[in-house]
Amino acid sequence: MSNSSQYYTRTAQFLHWIMAIIFISAWIIGFYSGNFLNYETDGSFKGDVITLHKNIATTIIFLVMIRIFWRYTHPTPELPATMSPLMKKLAHLGHLALYVILIALPISGCFYSWSAGHPAPVLYLFNIPQLIGENPEIMAIAKPVHVYLSWFAGLMVAGHILAALKHHFIDKDNVLKSMIKQSR
Ligand code: HEM
Repeated sequence: MSNSSQYYTRTAQFLHWIMAIIFISAWIIGFYSGNFLNYETDGSFKGDVITLHKNIATTIIFLVMIRIFWRYTHPTPELPATMSPLMKKLAHLGHLALYVILIALPISGCFYSWSAGHPAPVLYLFNIPQLIGENPEIMAIAKPVHVYLSWFAGLMVAGHILAALKHHFIDKDNVLKSMIKQSR
């Protein structure tokens, strides 16, 4: 649904920036735990860091569902007329891929956690209902899927940030502002 307004709705902007903060925090914490901590030398600290990673990251599942609902029930601003039809198509495909990865990544994390015999907690409040029990065979798949998806997602988000900065500083168009400002 496109829109005559130049700006995303306040709700869409809020969901975008809160998910950006959560994604980047979860990514850094997961990467730190996965690559710089180990149980032999860091003991329970590593466990606490992974628990923090999960409690933050699971919120993405709920937020992305609200975000997709909002996206398809509310208008969005048009991309700049200066963009070629091919670039517009690529931008839409990129955004679609970001939605797919924002669903697949936390879900793969939940399967990794469950298959390792651990819960998938949300904001230290409750656990997502466990769909599978401890299962080393599933874990052998879920672990590399989560790790490789997380790297791929990190690259996609980095590309998304670079594209937004290019729009703002090089093309000097309205794309970044449409996610920040409101019309008066
Ligand atoms: C958007 C959400 C998420 C992001 C961005 C994310 C990102 C990451 C990253 C970057 C790593 C480190 C990969 C590596 O070893 O290089 C990781 C590891 C991990 N993630 Fe996630 N993840 C997310 C969701 C989840 C969820 C929902 C769970 C479970 C409920 C989870 C469980 C884990 C576990 C158990 C590890 C292994 C940590 C370790 O070995 O120390 N992740 N994640």
